[in-house]
Amino acid sequence: MAAQIGVTGLAVMGANLARNLARNGYTVAVHNRSRARTDALIAEHGHEGDFVPAETLQELVDSLEKPRRVLIMVKAGKPVDAVIDDLVPLLDADDIIIDAGNSHYTDTRRREAALAEKGLHFVGVGVSGGEEGALKGPSIMPGGSKKSYESLGPMLEKISAHVDGEPCCSWIGTDGAGHFVKMVHNGIEYADMQVIGEAFDLLRSGAGIEPAEQSKIFAEWNKGDLSSFLIEITAEVLGHVDAKTGKPFVDVVVDAAGMKGTGGWTVIAALELGSPVTGIAESVFARALSSQAAQRPVAQSLLPGHEVKLDLPDTFVEDVRQALYASKLVSYAQGLDMLVAAAKEYGWELDLAAIASLWRAGCIIRASLLRDITEAYRGDNPPANLLFAPAFTEAIGAAVPAWRRVVATAAQLGIPAPVFSSSLAYYDGLRRERLPAALTQGLRDLFGAHTYQRVDADGVFHTLWSGDKTERPES
Ligand code: 6PG
Repeated sequence: MAAQIGVTGLAVMGANLARNLARNGYTVAVHNRSRARTDALIAEHGHEGDFVPAETLQELVDSLEKPRRVLIMVKAGKPVDAVIDDLVPLLDADDIIIDAGNSHYTDTRRREAALAEKGLHFVGVGVSGGEEGALKGPSIMPGGSKKSYESLGPMLEKISAHVDGEPCCSWIGTDGAGHFVKMVHNGIEYADMQVIGEAFDLLRSGAGIEPAEQSKIFAEWNKGDLSSFLIEITAEVLGHVDAKTGKPFVDVVVDAAGMKGTGGWTVIAALELGSPVTGIAESVFARALSSQAAQRPVAQSLLPGHEVKLDLPDTFVEDVRQALYASKLVSYAQGLDMLVAAAKEYGWELDLAAIASLWRAGCIIRASLLRDITEAYRGDNPPANLLFAPAFTEAIGAAVPAWRRVVATAAQLGIPAPVFSSSLAYYDGLRRERLPAALTQGLRDLFGAHTYQRVDADGVFHTLWSGDKTERPES
């Protein structure tokens, strides 16, 4: 029987996606540049379903039903182009190449346009959920042409995670939309982890609560409105004791956070769109700062802190929980707002309800909150900002007093809380009737004749700063 889909690139993610497809009843042709991985997959997991091992890409292509579906799971960047170059001469019009890696959306846009000219479909698919998700049901964000989704969608929906029978997969939008949405998912993932880290630091360094005790606090938080995969695994990591030293595991890990790039990509894209994703940006910079190995020891001995000794209120743990929740909401609001800006820029019809819905399970940022976010965007009258949806206006409003206390306390104790504090600044910035941007405009006009608008008249104006300071309209 001809295989229904081919997978090339059988490192863990590719192998697990291939196994997931086979476990769901599809016949899967599998190929890897070095044959050993193919053999290992068949030897260890061949019994899980119908696999067709292929020695070469030609063999892989020959084993597929038409129109062919070939899923590439190789390292983002040049390796993807290399596989595409090898595949294209072997394919026919209407065949579909699927890139399920973490590719940059601009690469996906370029590849989609180039392959469309050859009559081929190129589908950039965001896949979230790590190795386990790939095997048992990830959250899937497919881009590419709508037509390609007719053939590919049912398969992807079947292997995705499900919530109440609904698949965590739906067509996102044309060309690079799927990879763009996955990128923003990762940006939110960075912010989610950073706010957890800030809570941990405040509870440890501020309130002296040890990791083992915090593990219980996070487990408790996981039962409420913070309930999410990342809070759940925080409880696990904080409760883990290092076998070698008997110390809390977090104390034996070097405190320099790595990153593969998707968080930074999100921030770069946001800067290009003029979209204020402050929480995500601060999360990326917090990781970068943690890795300043040469400067940190110098700063520790050189720079004064002038920390203030404080009696923390009895409500401190709950205050921190609320600050975490509020900051998390802001990050989601900013990420979704960025999607709106991108949709406008790239002509995508992004459905925020559908996107929030497919993040409800399978992916790293899965959280009970996403159910409410989905609801907020369903219907004909979606809010211009997540925080304007009545349920969230109320929720974040209730957290504000605690949030302010925590940010003030963090500043006085000298504990960095960049996302807690920048998210509060974003919240206040949005709310503020008059912003100092008016002064910025005045300065820009003085040094560069950049002009300004008036609150009481239409048009654009310039003041003759170096002359008689009269104002004149600019055409
Ligand atoms: C996912 C993850 C996955 C990966 C990140 C890690 O959704 O499954 O986001 O894609 O874990 O790319 O990113 P960093 O190495 O940059 O933290």
